[in-house]
Amino acid sequence: MQREWMTIVAHQSIASQTYLLELQGSLPQFVETPGQFVHIQVSDDFFLRRPVSIADVDSDKGTVTLLYKVMGKGTDALTRKKIGDKLDVLGPSGTGFPIDKLTTNKALLIGGGIGVPPLYYLAKNLKSKGMEVTSILGFRSSEDVFFTEKFQALGDVHVATNDGSMGTRGFVTDVIPQVDGYDTYFSCGPTVMLKGVKEQLKGVPGYISIEERMGCGVGACFACVVECADEEDAKGYRKICSDGPVFRPEEVVL
Ligand SMILES: Cc1cc2nc3c(=O)[nH]c(=O)nc-3n(C[C@H](O)[C@H](O)[C@H](O)COP(=O)(O)OP(=O)(O)OC[C@H]3O[C@@H](n4cnc5c(N)ncnc54)[C@H](O)[C@@H]3O)c2cc1C
Ligand code: FES
Repeated sequence: MQREWMTIVAHQSIASQTYLLELQGSLPQFVETPGQFVHIQVSDDFFLRRPVSIADVDSDKGTVTLLYKVMGKGTDALTRKKIGDKLDVLGPSGTGFPIDKLTTNKALLIGGGIGVPPLYYLAKNLKSKGMEVTSILGFRSSEDVFFTEKFQALGDVHVATNDGSMGTRGFVTDVIPQVDGYDTYFSCGPTVMLKGVKEQLKGVPGYISIEERMGCGVGACFACVVECADEEDAKGYRKICSDGPVFRPEEVVL
């Protein structure tokens, strides 16, 4: 992990209150696995950095692509940053999806809202290793939908929207029964969604990425701990920022 002032080389709206931000610097060459994130100091007005997942890496250009949704003051202030501005970034942080250890043939990716971005870089990596990828992407409404064509270029895509304005009406968990043939699942999204996915896919090998609130982002403050599922685990907890954000579903209590 390193701290770097990265240059904004692209910044555009891609869906309702959702932006694509491309940052250039030396940090991309240190990204090890999809699922890792960067920790952004939006400005001196904010005490805490904001964690955002790495949605793509372009080693030739030396860029990372981030996709973020405006949730509050920090992400709102981020929208006002312009191409050419520099951002104080820490990363790549966290432990991502262990792509080099997988024996997957057919992967099922399940993303909800701001949990969709890290799955894109994962899908690219899985595809480049010869694995088949099917994606279920859930959003609130058609206005919130992004990157479906990009996922389609890598495999089958099913969209669910809460209001039914695109794809299946409902949640990603309503679409899961329509898909079969996968041997491993990979999911990222709100904790309530991950909980539903974990229950529905009990017995299927999987990985979940938890995007909860964070403090320091470097394992020092305990703001991000989740309870271990194994009561006999010596430590009893995992830190999302350093042990995760990617875990085996059976490892943690959601
Ligand atoms: C490992 C990790 C990866 C992430 N990746 C992405 C990403 O790729 N794209 C993206 O848009 N967001 C991502 N997030 C969430 C993002 O960090 C928060 O939305 C952001 O920090 C909110 O900052 P804010 O100042 O705008 O809002 P705040 O003022 O801090 O909060 C405003 C509202 O948003 C809610 N909120 C804050 N943090 C989160 C969160 N982590 N999850 C859900 N709700 C939250 C608060 O409860 C509050 O209601 C990620 C979070 C983590 C931990
Ligand atoms: S955010 Fe500080 S320990 Fe994880």
